Amino acid sequence: MSDGSVPTPFLSIEDVVVRFDIKRTLLDRLTGQPARAIHALNGVRLEIPRGETLGVVGESGCGKSTLARTIVGLIEANDGRVMFEGRDVAGLKGGARRAYNRRVQMIFQDPYGSLNPQMSVRQVLTEALSVHKMRSKAEIPGRIAELLDLVRLPQDAADKRPHEFSGGQRQRIGIARALAVEPEILVADELVSALDVSVQAQVVNLLLDLQQRFKLTVIFVAHDLRLVRHISDRVAVMYLGEIVEIGETEALFTAPRHPYTRTLLDAAPDLDPTRRTRVASAKGELPSPLSLPSGCRFHPRCPYVFDRCREEHPILKAHGARQLAACHLEDFSKAGV
Ligand SMILES: Nc1ncnc2c1ncn2[C@@H]1O[C@H](COP(=O)(O)OP(=O)(O)O)[C@@H](O)[C@H]1O
Ligand SMILES: [Mg+2]
Repeated sequence: MSDGSVPTPFLSIEDVVVRFDIKRTLLDRLTGQPARAIHALNGVRLEIPRGETLGVVGESGCGKSTLARTIVGLIEANDGRVMFEGRDVAGLKGGARRAYNRRVQMIFQDPYGSLNPQMSVRQVLTEALSVHKMRSKAEIPGRIAELLDLVRLPQDAADKRPHEFSGGQRQRIGIARALAVEPEILVADELVSALDVSVQAQVVNLLLDLQQRFKLTVIFVAHDLRLVRHISDRVAVMYLGEIVEIGETEALFTAPRHPYTRTLLDAAPDLDPTRRTRVASAKGELPSPLSLPSGCRFHPRCPYVFDRCREEHPILKAHGARQLAACHLEDFSKAGV
């Protein structure tokens, strides 16, 4: 900007902390156990420009779904903020809140769970269009036909109910329902994880087409790294409720800057069948988010651990223009193990 001011980011996650308190049992009380909490998000900071597709990866339990649910407002952060076009989402009221709920849509892994089995596709889409008053009554049939076209379902799908469709088709209905309200951000949490591999690619390609056509911003949470690489402009790697690495997709996949990212890539052998040599990978299992390790949360499993890692929590720092990683080593891949 000519006046030197920084443009307002489209979506900005600022040091978000989410804890889930665990109820103390009677035994806990009698034995004087302190209250405990699951530390699901531990200061996540992230900016997402309009039109970006951001992949979010990490082992199960690292906080990906919690982040997705916090962004759409299903979970309230204990600390930090989600800012949309410069406004704190938690403070939005009335019409502004409804507008956010329309502009940011989540598509779920299991549309069975979120689609009412008694309702036809026409009823599902009519409901979505009516809630946010997207179209007049007379325009609704035309819009439903358009939405079915967009997600490449035949027109006669309108009068069927969810159980009459395959898993992939049900995902398309879920996508059509989200698109009905003309969102700007789509948050897809393990959208295709439950589908057959051949169907996964079709649904992901559909999402990619729609993203380009409507200039959507997409947050794509998944554990299949090939799909993430295919669809994402940037990828964020989460470990125990933190982003440990974030960067442009190809940079991150070809030269990861965090040992945890390396571990994830190595655990997906079909990513690069030509690479035979395997570097040392993470030991053991994900520690409990009830009590986080000191220093770098990854240190108990890291093959490159040294003293500083046990004490000092590393912050994200730049590696070139395209990548950030939270590791005390400048370049772990050059460190001996
Ligand atoms: N509603 C909840 N109540 C209690 N613990 C939760 C809740 N949701 C998630 N968690 C815990 O928070 C941590 C992060 O979970 P989640 O965000 O689902 O991770 P991911 O999606 O990466 O698998 C896990 O330890 C999980 O058990
Ligand atoms: Mg999840």
